[in-house]
Amino acid sequence: MTTIGFIGSGRVGGTLARLAADAGHDVVLSNSRGPGTLRDLARDLGPRARAATVEEAARDGDLVVVCVPFHAYRQVPVAPLRGKVVIDTTNYNPDRDGRLADLDAGRVTSAGLLQAHLPESFVVKAFSNIFHKHLATLGRPAGAPDRSALAVTGDDAAAKATVAELIGTLGYDAYDAGALDDSRRFAPGTPANHAYLDPEGMFAAPGRSVSADRLAALLASA
Ligand SMILES: NC(=O)c1ccc[n+]([C@@H]2O[C@H](COP(=O)([O-])OP(=O)(O)OC[C@H]3O[C@@H](n4cnc5c(N)ncnc54)[C@H](OP(=O)(O)O)[C@@H]3O)[C@@H](O)[C@H]2O)c1
Repeated sequence: MTTIGFIGSGRVGGTLARLAADAGHDVVLSNSRGPGTLRDLARDLGPRARAATVEEAARDGDLVVVCVPFHAYRQVPVAPLRGKVVIDTTNYNPDRDGRLADLDAGRVTSAGLLQAHLPESFVVKAFSNIFHKHLATLGRPAGAPDRSALAVTGDDAAAKATVAELIGTLGYDAYDAGALDDSRRFAPGTPANHAYLDPEGMFAAPGRSVSADRLAALLASA
């Protein structure tokens, strides 16, 4: 089992931390306001969870998940993440993050910018195109007919394999969607970004399961 550091422990970070702790991983939670504000969540997640500072979560995680509003990506600490696999769950949302011309023009991706900020880390994009409530409910045991696949992109094959293995423990199959730049194929506004939404209730739980074949077709249509 792995120790997973969380930089950002809100809706996505908290949901992933719960899945990870339930799967037997140790989780280290952090946010912008400090560990005192995460003690209740840590207690709720059980003995495998603890609240820490951002630096500690980055240092102690064997792998680290970035779950902050995209505009905060430059505050992710660089030094403690050197040589580590970093999962990027963020999405660029201009209304929240402010406009970035390079992203608007498609010259870069949000994951590419995080990778440029962390040049000695191995950034893998995952979990960014599934609503947190659906992430919480769509997990299934390996081999279940309605087990969903989640897209994974990255420039380092070993890092992608590490994340795929983690995803497997959380109730999902990983689907290799290519290099980090290919994460644009499941960015907000793409068909694959809506894949897991309930066809009737949109954000209503439990969402809908998405097979690897279905995901591949949606990614190809972007
Ligand atoms: N919500 C979804 O279903 C969903 C799905 C896929 C992807 N995403 C993307 O995932 C990211 C997180 O979304 P979310 O919905 O989980 O947001 P959220 O609920 O608002 O949580 C954000 C977390 O990031 C922390 N944070 C903010 N600035 C920080 C900083 N400078 N250093 C450390 N921690 C910081 C916040 O801590 P404080 O509260 O202490 O500030 C909070 O714990 C976003 O980029 C979003 O676009 C969201």
